[in-house]
Amino acid sequence: MITPSIHKASAMTPRDAPAAPRDRYTRVAIALHWAIAGFILFNLGIGFFMESWPLPVRLFALMLHASSGLTVLALTVARVAWRLVNEPPPYPAEMKPWERHSARFVHFLLYAAMVLMPLSGWAILSAHSPPGSRGAAVEFAPPPPGMKPVMAAPPGGMPPRMMGPPPTMKVWNLVPLPAIAPIEAIGKEPGGVAPQRRLHEEFVEWHSVGAFLLIGLLILHVAGALKHQFVDRQSEFARMGVGRRRPF
Ligand code: HEM
Repeated sequence: MITPSIHKASAMTPRDAPAAPRDRYTRVAIALHWAIAGFILFNLGIGFFMESWPLPVRLFALMLHASSGLTVLALTVARVAWRLVNEPPPYPAEMKPWERHSARFVHFLLYAAMVLMPLSGWAILSAHSPPGSRGAAVEFAPPPPGMKPVMAAPPGGMPPRMMGPPPTMKVWNLVPLPAIAPIEAIGKEPGGVAPQRRLHEEFVEWHSVGAFLLIGLLILHVAGALKHQFVDRQSEFARMGVGRRRPF
């Protein structure tokens, strides 16, 4: 006997049938995911090493690092906006509640890191006296002959005499990067130079600790994907555009 519900379903045309839930992210979300991943890996890769490179190479590496990091920020904003209007595919039904909760939590922390890492890096570059200000005359003044510099050595171990005002950073060597105005303004007057220097050191510390936390999150994220793909035998990689969906 045909039940009423089956009867009703069989009367539906393909146009009336409700759309099946997606089993992979949209192409845009997939492209954004892999672009962000690439820029993050690039930044972690050069971030830890650039300080030991000779000055001109280091400045070029810093330009690439800052540009790639700010690109991560822009792409993350785009990704969040895209996600708000395009629902991600549902998790596989077999996934346990604790796995869903931890995946959501790690994703949230990853988004936070993808915003806070670029902002803390930008804050490091902004924590210098504004060019031409009375503070800049103090911050970048060479120490008098025979005197040790009053301030802590600048990042990268550059001797203060070699330091002039830092050249304006250009994003991808094209667009000048403005400083974050309230942070830059702290060092406008000579009295603000030392507090701004301390803040600079704090930003460097946060950026560095953030990099290690980000590495931890990436390890958790990749470990989760590998477990679902190879242990639980779900089509995890296919959700993010890698390979085909497993047949039922
Ligand atoms: C996803 C984005 C980013 C990641 C993953 C990242 C990662 C890193 C890492 C791993 C380091 C080395 C930390 C250490 O030596 O312990 C570093 C240093 C640095 N980063 Fe980034 N970064 C990002 C974005 C940015 C941005 C957008 C800027 C600037 C606009 C920036 C500016 C800097 C600077 C100036 C340093 C050197 C700090 C020092 O003086 O030691 N970073 N970054």
